[in-house]
Amino acid sequence: MPTAARIQPRYQNPAALGHDTVQFSGSQKAAKVSGRIHVDPEARRFRLTGKNMEYQLQVNPDGELLHLYWGKPVGNFDPKLLPHHKTHLTSWQNQLDVMPREMPDFGRGDNRTPAVQITTPSGQVTSRFRYKGHRVIQGKPSPEGLPGLYADRKSDAQTLVITMRDEVTNLDMELFYTVFRDQDVIVRSARLTNNSGEPVKIDKLASFAADFDPADYQLLKLSGSWARERQEERMDLKQGAINISSRVGASGHEHNPFVALLSPNTTEETGDVYGVSLVYSGSFSAEAEQNRNRYTRLVMGLNPASFEWTLAPGESFQTPEAVGVFSAQGLGGMSRALHKAYKKHLIRGEWQDKPRPILLNSWEAAFFDLNHDKLVRFAEEAKAMGVDLVVVDDGWFGDKYPRNDGTSGLGDWMANPEKFPRGMDGLAEEINALGLDFGIWVEPEMVNPNSELYEKHPDWVIHQPGRDRTEMRHQLVLDLGRKEVQDYIIESMSRLLESGRVKYVKWDMNRTMTEIGSAGLPPDRQKETQHRYMLGLYRVMETLTQRFPGVLWEGCAGGGGRFDPGMLAYFPQTWTSDNSDGPSRLRIQAGTVRAYPPMTMGAHVTDVPNTIIGRTTSLKFRFHVAMAGNLGLELDPTKLSGEEKAEIRRYLEFYRQIRHIVQDGEYHLLSSPADRSIAGNWPALAYVLPDQSEALVFAYQLQADAWGTTAPSVKLKGLDPEAAYRVSGIDDPVSGAFLMNVGLNPKLQGDYDSEIYHVKKIA
Ligand code: DGJ
Repeated sequence: MPTAARIQPRYQNPAALGHDTVQFSGSQKAAKVSGRIHVDPEARRFRLTGKNMEYQLQVNPDGELLHLYWGKPVGNFDPKLLPHHKTHLTSWQNQLDVMPREMPDFGRGDNRTPAVQITTPSGQVTSRFRYKGHRVIQGKPSPEGLPGLYADRKSDAQTLVITMRDEVTNLDMELFYTVFRDQDVIVRSARLTNNSGEPVKIDKLASFAADFDPADYQLLKLSGSWARERQEERMDLKQGAINISSRVGASGHEHNPFVALLSPNTTEETGDVYGVSLVYSGSFSAEAEQNRNRYTRLVMGLNPASFEWTLAPGESFQTPEAVGVFSAQGLGGMSRALHKAYKKHLIRGEWQDKPRPILLNSWEAAFFDLNHDKLVRFAEEAKAMGVDLVVVDDGWFGDKYPRNDGTSGLGDWMANPEKFPRGMDGLAEEINALGLDFGIWVEPEMVNPNSELYEKHPDWVIHQPGRDRTEMRHQLVLDLGRKEVQDYIIESMSRLLESGRVKYVKWDMNRTMTEIGSAGLPPDRQKETQHRYMLGLYRVMETLTQRFPGVLWEGCAGGGGRFDPGMLAYFPQTWTSDNSDGPSRLRIQAGTVRAYPPMTMGAHVTDVPNTIIGRTTSLKFRFHVAMAGNLGLELDPTKLSGEEKAEIRRYLEFYRQIRHIVQDGEYHLLSSPADRSIAGNWPALAYVLPDQSEALVFAYQLQADAWGTTAPSVKLKGLDPEAAYRVSGIDDPVSGAFLMNVGLNPKLQGDYDSEIYHVKKIA
């Protein structure tokens, strides 16, 4: 077994990072500046600064925590100048209903959606959390048992912890705020501790809440479905609430746990944007509510519709983290800021910055029709084309219940002896002998009723006694809230990986939860099943990634049904979508890259006609789309002609030369595939290295145009205007200013044509 060289520690206990809680008192007059966190005891005010972003809070004389400001740095100002001081209130509203509140509690006159709601044993639902104290700690504590952002060094980040107390229930709520030296994000979470002698019920505890001044806002969201994930949509907010959510146990295909608030005038490059991204992979909710006075509240966290938690005396409950990102440079600025934070402070381990292997996956090449010899033939062809790693996808396992289709085998993680007489290690050995690495597909959270595992442990699935167990894709969901289930998965996966021959794991998950309940929980805790499942899943992922640090893990959920920061904290890449049709992928990838770094997106070239869409596009177009992400192949290489193989070899060679730009480059959307104007026919994007020395430009044409008569020039962004650049396919060097102001004019012909330019600064 490989040695368990620990990757970055995921849990840093806040207490271990030091600093006792203090309270504002009359004797503290001078403002204290601790790096990026400025505390003014006299004004009872906190100012947190990122690189180009400021976040301000204030404790008012009643002990309420106010959200004063979030945006470009503005320094100190008189809070009396804020709009709620001038709002005229009738007897139908009190001050709380218009105050900019930071973590709004429930039941005292703020009629907007709360961020925290509890029920006491006597049935009270009102709470009043008032400032009790605060502390500033160096570095970034991690949420216990949950994925989170990290700081390699204490000096990279600072964290403000504000404690709020509800005197009636004796509940303490700690609010965590981390800012990083080099980032424009603020990371928030909350922890509730029950200091009373009785249990209380948490009905809602959000990770993020903020109130925005009266103005017109739009909400940007990434919505869709299976094979149509993360379509970017902007909608006007009107009086009332919009809830973007998932409630069935996975972040989901339908909505991504990312939303942004922006002005209707905000463009790709200009205007303010406030993004919030939740570091969680289960059911979530994002609420955007505009009230009668046109104040807008944004609340994001665990979905209260599918959550409840009994907090026993002395216990604490910690929320997932939410990442708030502010950009004054439009949507593009927000995406770049989020990518930067995620590349440096979320994704971790050996593969964080390493070039990712180009892989060939067996799924669309052979589906369930697998065997040892076929995989070896795939590997021989793949090697000749320049592939690095071969992945055996679904269909390799199950003995008593062989996995020949979707109806059986899930849960029995041993190689099928008929298809793979030498086992997975034998196959890996032969593939390794060809000079290729070996990877494997698993779906550890699931079980088919036709399996040895289910025969032994029918109570290990999520279910409710006396009710049918609804099957989807012939499978049931294991109850990962139970320790014995977690341990079974850890041990069965460890057995697969312990020889050290498996270098890559694709971790799939192919259904949502139904009849949600756990045989391991008492009746009054059944609504904890979902969150306990997630905590269990994270324990499994944490254990396995620590135990096998050299393995490259890729998340997957029926395509991109769990593409979220929670998964990326453990697995540095995710399968983007089962839809690999080039034109469809342009929109899916444009939506995905809005919130996630390009190299996190698994992007494979598959056969034509496309299995889902039925469309035929050229090999060139399919490669040019996939090369904007983490490139792989998913087709039967034995069916390719000699010419096709030679063409693929050239694309792989090219990708190897430019993949560092996909990985390290800053993203610029030049023309959106979602644009409904004429320009939407020519989507284009660029990745530019932070030092502006190299760039990649991807230009596409969807429908044929009369000799390019209406095609706009592709104007680059983010280059050094003064520098001279060499552009692939263009003889003479051109200036950055030319490329950004005049632009490139690719000769695109016919339906679905494309061009990639490699732009390199002349030293
Ligand atoms: C769904 C995934 O998205 C596919 O790539 C493939 O792995 C199948 N599951 C296998 O069942």
